[in-house]
Amino acid sequence: MDTETLLIHAGRQTAIAANAVSPPLVRTSTTVFASYDAYKQAQGGLVFDGPRYGRSGTSTTFELQRAMAQIAHTETCIATSSGLAAITAVLAAHAGPGRHLLVGAGVYGPTRVFCDNVLIPSGTDVEYFAHDTDIAPLLRESTSLVFVETPASLTMEMWDVPAISAAAHDRGVPVACDATWGTPVFFDAHALGIDISIHAATKFINGHSDLLLGLITGTLDALAGVRAYCDRSGTHAAPDTCWLTLRGLRTLAVRMEHHQRSALTVAQWLTSQPGVQRVLFPALDTDPGYKLWQTQFSGAAGPFTVELAPCSEAAFTGFIDSLSLFGLGTSWGGFESLVMPAVPHHLRALAAPTDAPRLVRFHIGLESPHDLCDDLATALTCLTSAHDTAGTP
Ligand SMILES: Cc1ncc(COP(=O)(O)O)c(C=O)c1O
Repeated sequence: MDTETLLIHAGRQTAIAANAVSPPLVRTSTTVFASYDAYKQAQGGLVFDGPRYGRSGTSTTFELQRAMAQIAHTETCIATSSGLAAITAVLAAHAGPGRHLLVGAGVYGPTRVFCDNVLIPSGTDVEYFAHDTDIAPLLRESTSLVFVETPASLTMEMWDVPAISAAAHDRGVPVACDATWGTPVFFDAHALGIDISIHAATKFINGHSDLLLGLITGTLDALAGVRAYCDRSGTHAAPDTCWLTLRGLRTLAVRMEHHQRSALTVAQWLTSQPGVQRVLFPALDTDPGYKLWQTQFSGAAGPFTVELAPCSEAAFTGFIDSLSLFGLGTSWGGFESLVMPAVPHHLRALAAPTDAPRLVRFHIGLESPHDLCDDLATALTCLTSAHDTAGTP
């Protein structure tokens, strides 16, 4: 079945059993069993798709996990308390003294913060690599995972996922990918060779900016270590957030189409505006990542980043504060448009503050793109007005 159909029909077993359209929300910390035999059966192994105790989930959790596994064209899914919890569970499950992790340099900032502050001090060798690197020479006997995020957070570089996967698999190394940007609607991660796909469902999958949730997908084999880690560390999601995410999932495909149309309209319009130096969005045919995006993705919902022309701090403040339809906030993937000054983690150490490009990340919500462009046009006048002494920090 096509993804649009699966989004509607997957994850509804318990709904059908209850003669309902929507699965019941089952909140419980404690599972009780009808017999000692049933109890003994539930205790064996690492269970994430049958009730055992609240941490492993309730029927609501299992509905979401089954739906997500189906939509991602794989066997299984683990729900975690946030997108970052999903990332750290995957990394921690493959880390340890003497182990080597290859991590894409442009990953989400807190992913690097976890590597630098938790994994490296406890003995894991973490090596960052740039998006255009041939990873074959970097792989070692001790390499236990390659981790990428495509496109890169904030700087939006594309990664050649099939080439990275082929090189890693040649050496028996699994590949994990933070696939939050594409979602399974636009990015068929497992078909491209990804073993472990990670989604901050907080963003597009839930889509309503009212919860935090992570989802990890892959085969039973690929996720065995991650399941064990989650089971032992108590990384789990609440049934309420799973229920809301299932509700968001039903409309994911239509929302993604709308986000894509509007993001392209706004991004294209921005490319010709005074005060805008560059738009970093792989769905634009002028972007260096366009070819890779075309071959790996079936769509692009945004968000995207804009490099502004050099401007004074006052002009920049005026620009941000003049926006009325774009909320100033550090998220994306919801129904509402957002703006955020972007300081990519991997560029922080490299550039002196005055040399750093003035980057702004936009998330284009479900408003009319024409209203959004009008809002941006007004704000951009702050950058181009005669009062600004361009280039003065
Ligand atoms: C690419 C990416 N991955 C993961 C996360 C983390 O998700 P959460 O906020 O649910 O922890 C974010 C959050 O902004 C993100 O942008």
